[in-house]
Amino acid sequence: MAKLLVLLLCSCALSLGVFIFSSIEAVLLKASRQHNSRYHHALTRNQNTGGTTPTPIGTKHVGDWPAAIVKAKAVVASMSVKDKVALATGVGREKGPCVGNTPAVPSIDYPGLCLQDSPTGVRLADFVSVFPAGINIAATFNRTMMRARGLAMGAEFKGKGVNVALGPDINIVRSPRAGRNWETFGADPYLTGEASFETVKGLQANGLQACVKHYINNEQETNRTSSSSNVDDRTTHEIYLHPFFKAIQAGVVSFMCSYNQVNGTYACENEHVLNDLLKTELGFQGYVMTDWWARLDEFGTLAVNKGLDMVMPGEVSRGGKSSYFGTALVNAVKTGQVPTSRLDDMATRILAAYYVQGQDSGDYPSVNFDSWNSSRGKHMDVQGDHKKLIRSMGAASTVLLKNDGSQLPLGNSVRSIAVVGSDAGPNPEGPNSCLGRRCNVGILALGWGSGTADFTYLIDPLSAITAKANSINATVFSSLSDADLIAAKNASSGKDVAFVFITADSGEASEGHILVEGNLGDRNDLNAWHGGNELVKAVAGENKNTVVIIHAVGAINMELWIDHPNVTAVVHAGLQGQEAGNSLVDILWGDVNPSGRLPYTIAKSPSDYSADISSGYNVDYTEGLYIDYRWFDQNNITPRFEFGYGLSYTSFSYSALAIVYLRGGLGDKSQGPIGLERSLSSWLHNDWITVTFELTNTGLVDGTEIPQLYIAPSPSSNSPPKQLRNFDSVFLRKGESTLVKMCLSRYSFAVWNSVEQRWGVPRGKYGIWVGASSRDRRLYEEIHVRGF
Ligand code: BGC
Repeated sequence: MAKLLVLLLCSCALSLGVFIFSSIEAVLLKASRQHNSRYHHALTRNQNTGGTTPTPIGTKHVGDWPAAIVKAKAVVASMSVKDKVALATGVGREKGPCVGNTPAVPSIDYPGLCLQDSPTGVRLADFVSVFPAGINIAATFNRTMMRARGLAMGAEFKGKGVNVALGPDINIVRSPRAGRNWETFGADPYLTGEASFETVKGLQANGLQACVKHYINNEQETNRTSSSSNVDDRTTHEIYLHPFFKAIQAGVVSFMCSYNQVNGTYACENEHVLNDLLKTELGFQGYVMTDWWARLDEFGTLAVNKGLDMVMPGEVSRGGKSSYFGTALVNAVKTGQVPTSRLDDMATRILAAYYVQGQDSGDYPSVNFDSWNSSRGKHMDVQGDHKKLIRSMGAASTVLLKNDGSQLPLGNSVRSIAVVGSDAGPNPEGPNSCLGRRCNVGILALGWGSGTADFTYLIDPLSAITAKANSINATVFSSLSDADLIAAKNASSGKDVAFVFITADSGEASEGHILVEGNLGDRNDLNAWHGGNELVKAVAGENKNTVVIIHAVGAINMELWIDHPNVTAVVHAGLQGQEAGNSLVDILWGDVNPSGRLPYTIAKSPSDYSADISSGYNVDYTEGLYIDYRWFDQNNITPRFEFGYGLSYTSFSYSALAIVYLRGGLGDKSQGPIGLERSLSSWLHNDWITVTFELTNTGLVDGTEIPQLYIAPSPSSNSPPKQLRNFDSVFLRKGESTLVKMCLSRYSFAVWNSVEQRWGVPRGKYGIWVGASSRDRRLYEEIHVRGF
């Protein structure tokens, strides 16, 4: 048994004092159960209202909102119905400089909003940076980098005068083929939640508004505007809602509701999703906008009454004239179909978000670019020195999958280098030649669709490798054709090392408008594109030191060559953004020791995954909680590479696990996990247990380890065998040791009780599982939890 110490101070505790656990806790639990049943009545009453009164803003005052809400309410009190509606109605596509625009309201000295994609940089603008994709920053398992990326991106959006950045995308990788997986933070809700929190904090730090999307259950592109994602309540809470909850904890001011239906009702007019979950249970104070032209089954009135606050880009459908809001909403208010109080609430939410971010301070830049006409605008260069950060994030997000005989890093004595595959080179037409990156030509550094930005420059691997080779007097032999296997073999034969580059691309569906090499958003299959398997086999047939480099949107199937004895190393580079070539060279030559970890599982067979794209109207989440590694663990399926996996050029040892209880939290007991905003309760989220262990770099070079903490739940919780509940990114010089400390809260152990509509911790034995991946367990102890 680990040493169980009671009453030690936890340095990761945010605000809690430390209390002696005693029978007081039991007494309080009893009181809270009584409170719970009272709440249940209140909830029932609320439901009886028929859902025409979404929980208004300011019901509870949390975070920095109170002053902004007071100010917004005062302003709204002076506004006409028409002006209030204007705040909520987009002006229409291409009627303003940004992808979404709301009009100025002169009566309150309000300039209107510019809403702009994307989660990887400022879209449709020049002199901006293109950051590594969301899936890459997730692979760093590094909160500092996640925050830094958000901060840098936030500065660029603000520099261009954008009010609202349309990101991050915090949907979950449910099916490995889903087209927008690369925009997200992976297949685990905890990892996604941390990335969501840090990204929002970074983006919003200097006044920008962030918009988390796509709320909720937009986990595939096929039929995204008509299908119904059918998900049970527990799975919703424990998997799909969590990242959105973390965004609220970070103070996010806006949400984008998704195109799809959720359990039979469009997300943007779904009372349960918008009002019960978001505005009541999670206490969200900001506003909810539609995804672009999101279809509402009924009139906008209904959606407003269910909790929608803004329509984007304004008109009902692409190219249409009428709007769900605008005059229709003015009339609905006049005829009483929408209560004035609801309109006031919408307007207050939108203005409060603007005030809470200080965008009214007078020094917020105005829009200085035009998405639709590049000859307009000021062409402000907002890149700063972000290229350095992007290069280091690209390297830190690169996952070394295989490295037999320490093939990598390459020494400076390498003399001849083969570089094979179209992905190694540039797109001959330029990095932005395909609109919205709707092609897979040359280095793949982003997927396609609204999640992209235009490259100011893009470093391709061949250029970066050639520059490195020149500096060490090595010669590069290249063949950039994927199809010409003879040329590939000729280039590879007899060289000290052969790099073979393969890709897999995906993107946004855009309802059939975009077809890339036969793929309509979601990938057709998990194979490498352009005959990548054959290319690898051809090169490996010639060269004993074949290194496969993968630029891909997610998992690819590598079974045809992964065990080939000449494939000595495999580098999964993902989508590294504009510095792709440099980031890769940093890893290949060991200037950066790889520490990226897979944010999803790579299976041996596509059929090993629990969920695939559904081609029908119903997208049934029948796998429930069992997505990705949760499914592989539960069913003893051996993956090719598991979630959390990644190699380093050094090695680490783990020892001395100690588990420390921090009882109590008496001070905030009154905010127990019931009632309004119950899922936000600090009682639930404050530190409860700390886990410490010793980590040592036992290898020959400095490096970063990513220790991961999983909880193996008590059988009574009926949960997956283990679930990620903490991680860290720890740099250690060779031979160095450190004590790693990770905190757990009650929420780390909690399961959602759908009957009582509350979080609870089932009593029982829980495994505290510390390891280097989801299958590489290094330390383990069991603890008994009393449950509540
Ligand atoms: C996408 C959103 C995007 C919006 C505006 C939609 O098609 O789903 O993610 O923000 O367009 O471009």
